[in-house]
Amino acid sequence: MADFDLVVRGGTVVTAERTLQADVGVRGGKVAEVRAGLPAGATEIDARGKLVMPGGIDSHCHVEQRSSSGVMCADDFYSASVAAAFGGTTTIMPFAAQHRGDSIPAVVDDYAKRAAEKAVVDYAFHLIVSDPTPQALQEDLPAMVKRGITSLKIYTTYELLRLKDDEVLDVLLAADRERALVMVHAENHEVIQWIARRLLERGHKAPKFHATSHHPIAEAEATHRVISLTRLLDVPALIVHVSGIEAIEAIRAGQKLGASIHAESCPQYLFLTADDADKPGLEGAKWCCSPPPRDARSQEAVWQALKDGTIGIYSSDHAPYRFDATGKLPHGEATTFKEMANGVPGIQARMPLLFSEGVGKGRITPNEFVALTATNHARMYGIAPRKGTLDPGADADIAVWDPQREVTLSASMMKDNAGYTPYEGRTVKGWPVQVLVRGQLVVDDGRLLAARGSGRFIPCGTPAPVARAGERRDNAAGAFRRLIDS
Ligand code: URP
Ligand code: ZN
Ligand code: ZN
Repeated sequence: MADFDLVVRGGTVVTAERTLQADVGVRGGKVAEVRAGLPAGATEIDARGKLVMPGGIDSHCHVEQRSSSGVMCADDFYSASVAAAFGGTTTIMPFAAQHRGDSIPAVVDDYAKRAAEKAVVDYAFHLIVSDPTPQALQEDLPAMVKRGITSLKIYTTYELLRLKDDEVLDVLLAADRERALVMVHAENHEVIQWIARRLLERGHKAPKFHATSHHPIAEAEATHRVISLTRLLDVPALIVHVSGIEAIEAIRAGQKLGASIHAESCPQYLFLTADDADKPGLEGAKWCCSPPPRDARSQEAVWQALKDGTIGIYSSDHAPYRFDATGKLPHGEATTFKEMANGVPGIQARMPLLFSEGVGKGRITPNEFVALTATNHARMYGIAPRKGTLDPGADADIAVWDPQREVTLSASMMKDNAGYTPYEGRTVKGWPVQVLVRGQLVVDDGRLLAARGSGRFIPCGTPAPVARAGERRDNAAGAFRRLIDS
């Protein structure tokens, strides 16, 4: 009998911490041993000339999710997870979205059922909380944490999602009590609405004006405000989809003051700019997301923040809406920038873009690539060391990358249902040719091998920033906190 179910042989193993020439032996779906010269496996993958890395974790994607304005995104758990796998991602973390009036347990049951039937990669959930009632915060949140959902997203914008500052404080406090991590979409709603109204009054309706209204100062103001609220309570939080210079400066300032503020950015802020939405007619809607892509200087600021650790998480914020009446164009040709669904697809292109432009162009090391696309996510959301590493004992979620393979991105190769890609025509160098989840091949050189529903729910433990929060309580903020929360 073979020593291993599978040996991935002869590749260069890259984790967040190290790079070595080694074989990876897999037994029972777990990494069993990593060293050169392993004995034979029952099956073998020849990885000579390839990089063997942990499969990616995409901790921000919208899948089979209805927006607050009632628009269903284009992907279900099957198409989104297939697209993720083809792009080297082996765990996705979408949202179970509570809309106002919804019961959180019912919402989560519904998402869990749909994902279990369809996903081909492993998955965990964050909760979106738009209705922070006493029931939601005191009863439902603790129950969700027990169930393995230990992170939740809140919004400071979108009319039907946004929380007022006192509600943000309620959520931060409740989450901290339950050892859950709060992710924040930080943009100043009233500034955005004020600019948008004035633009529309002056006849500026085209998609490119979306970026004008979602001004970087609106993002920076809300980012600063949210950080201030976390400092008041001495609790951690993670600012999602950070778009550029202004917000990064607010985050750096908060971090310098000792706030436990973590940050995420996405491909659209590295590889797109506001000019991409400046297209004839409504075409530019395909490039509109919130916050919007900014400019070349902001792209450089995001690269720098990824490099220096200010931003530790690189996710897709995959939010696929079709370019028709079901998504981007609810009023057909008459749709204004205020009426388009916000979001861009990116679950498949996320890792190849960063590999090509980051590792390939020498901006980040291969180890930093693994940290930014997998390991940091696992730690941030409490699924380490099961996910995000190739250490013995971890799930054998492996992506074998051909660093020389050149691929031109196009809608026709994307497995999601958006029908377009904002990266159309770009050539990337470096591609995940084999992708395994728990030791099973999901993608083998362009062929899908996994069955619908083969992905598993991964319960999250305590997020790392939350686990460390207690260490910092012996201070003035801690005394204040005891006064208002005992
Ligand atoms: O435009 C975006 N990002 N749409 C998705 C929803 C969100 O706010 O992340
Ligand atoms: Zn958001
Ligand atoms: Zn999002």
